[in-house]
Amino acid sequence: MYAHIKLYHRFIDVGFMNTRVYDNCLLATMVKGDVPYGLISDAAFCLRDGYIEWVGEAKALPPIYRDAAKTDLGGALVTPALIDCHTHLVHGGDRAGEFEMRLEGATYEELARAGGGILSTVKATRAASDEELTRQSLVRLDRLLADGVAVVEIKSGYGLTIDDEIRMLRIARRLGDLRPVKIVTTWLAAHTLPVEYKGEADRYLDEVAIPGLERAAAEGLVDSVDGFCETIGFSVAQIARLFDKAVALGLPVRLHAEQLSNQRGAVLAAEYQALSVDHLEYLAKSDVAALAAAGTGAVLLPGAFYTLRQSQQPPVAAMRDAGVGMSVATDCNPGSSPLSSLLLAMNLACNLFGLTPEEALRGTTREAALALGLGSEFGTLIKGGRGELAVWNVSHPAQLSYHIGATPLLRRISAMEAV
Ligand code: NIG
Ligand code: FE
Repeated sequence: MYAHIKLYHRFIDVGFMNTRVYDNCLLATMVKGDVPYGLISDAAFCLRDGYIEWVGEAKALPPIYRDAAKTDLGGALVTPALIDCHTHLVHGGDRAGEFEMRLEGATYEELARAGGGILSTVKATRAASDEELTRQSLVRLDRLLADGVAVVEIKSGYGLTIDDEIRMLRIARRLGDLRPVKIVTTWLAAHTLPVEYKGEADRYLDEVAIPGLERAAAEGLVDSVDGFCETIGFSVAQIARLFDKAVALGLPVRLHAEQLSNQRGAVLAAEYQALSVDHLEYLAKSDVAALAAAGTGAVLLPGAFYTLRQSQQPPVAAMRDAGVGMSVATDCNPGSSPLSSLLLAMNLACNLFGLTPEEALRGTTREAALALGLGSEFGTLIKGGRGELAVWNVSHPAQLSYHIGATPLLRRISAMEAV
């Protein structure tokens, strides 16, 4: 019946059943150009069937919208809804015990080599039922949604068997049915070696990560392919084998690169036209040009830098100068970044990495959408884009990065429906 109404509406272009005008607002459109944040003051915009049909200064609103339903936004700031483009949101348990050990001097790598780290979360994730994993993940997802988030990327990587990796992605997809959010799924079976394959990374790739990817992709569960390129993860040559399979399946790639040491994984990823390379604290300035040339985005994860109390910063100035798109994400995970506020990630990116508040907001809107391959629909407030927006109780967009531990979200405007 609903579909029938829509159809009627499309054919007989009268009334404004699915059309609404919003006015009395300040818009940060995040459109590229000369105006910071793409700001439009005294603005209005019009949504129709969940898409943006018109946007501009209120005084220029076309007369055809005169009789449309109207919402007065009371002078609030409106931005594209936020996008968290790097999370490990689905996982079992927590690692507060390792947090205590790190505070007493143990390093992240030492804990990983001793069988803790990612492997302890693998144990907890394998042991948890689907219901339990869903319940725990929803708590974190709801915190992200409270920060005005509309799109969340979620990786596998705590299953490390074909079935357990696929189970993680199924649960990730299910979260998108339970909440008004778009979920983007990433195959991260090459996260670490499970104990069953200790010392046999290539055999693990041949028996789990690569054939599992093929199966998960056939089930429609994979939007992109990721790996952990590190001394405690996988080598460049091993990641290349995984990426070859991704290319064969027509899937885009991204990579955890240069987080703890410089393996030149980012350069490899750029050769595969990766959508993004993530972390990058140890990226050499001389490798930045390769990212720019490939159009590969950089995803900055200040929550992990902060939690691991790192001191080497990613080469932000070099990436800015080279025109590399920079995103900011939570990296929400139980080990290196138990962070479930994207606004706090923006604040950390400014204070720890020297991003401007405008770059931080770009990093969770326009650039994050590009890093997920969703640039035509999400991340900017433009005609033809999805009407997924966030309305904020602030007078200037810099305040979104400035506050610590507060969410000034008034409401989301969304056409997404949860069950
Ligand atoms: O992005 N670096 C590898 N993966 C995660 C950490 C996962 C974990 O510690 O559980 C990261 O930091
Ligand atoms: Fe990560």
